[in-house]
Amino acid sequence: MRDQEKLFPATAMPDSNWWQALWPDPIGVLKNVGLKEGLTAIDLCCGDGLFTTPMSVLLDGKVYAVDLDPDMLALAEQAIKKTGAPSCTFIEGDARDMTQLIPVQVDIILIANTFHGVPEQTELVRNASEVLNRNGNFIIINWHKLPREKTTVLGEPRGPRTELRMSPEDVRTVVEPVGFQLTDLVEIPPYHYGAVFKKS
Ligand SMILES: C[S@@+](CC[C@H](N)C(=O)[O-])C[C@H]1O[C@@H](n2cnc3c(N)ncnc32)[C@H](O)[C@@H]1O
Repeated sequence: MRDQEKLFPATAMPDSNWWQALWPDPIGVLKNVGLKEGLTAIDLCCGDGLFTTPMSVLLDGKVYAVDLDPDMLALAEQAIKKTGAPSCTFIEGDARDMTQLIPVQVDIILIANTFHGVPEQTELVRNASEVLNRNGNFIIINWHKLPREKTTVLGEPRGPRTELRMSPEDVRTVVEPVGFQLTDLVEIPPYHYGAVFKKS
């Protein structure tokens, strides 16, 4: 399969002007979903690094940032350098191959704004479980299941098509049977939630 064909549908990186307006406090979001010093993490499908830099700050660089697109990884790396945050490990590859890509087990896997597009969600969650430490957390940040025309940013409807969006209950139905328990559901205004699943 060519790399372009491996991209999950409807997961292109949004334009930075409205994306940054929507996410004024990524470090606050990460703290609210449980990231704290001493943990290790993967920023799965990291894009241009919206969450990678603050993760690296919080976890003192003990972060693996994975994306299929080398241009995104380059932007994420530049962003870290620009802010002077501790450097982390950047890995180009398909998220589905995480068991081969990540050399260790980690405490946290975060997938933000991407899970809705994953075609084989159960398989991805199973792989995440293998890469997580005992009691590790799989964290999914998603757009709420609202009609797209209602999720406006800078005056335009934004985000994935309405029919692709998942409610917290939809996500729970996929993740829990693999061997996780939903332990926290965090509201991320105006349009997102963070679902925290503990490996059980
Ligand atoms: C919508 S962006 C989200 C980026 C970041 N998580 C955020 O919230 O700002 C989705 C990212 O997933 C990446 N991606 C899509 N399919 C992938 C795959 N199969 N493996 C790894 N990365 C993938 C894309 O290249 C893109 O950078």
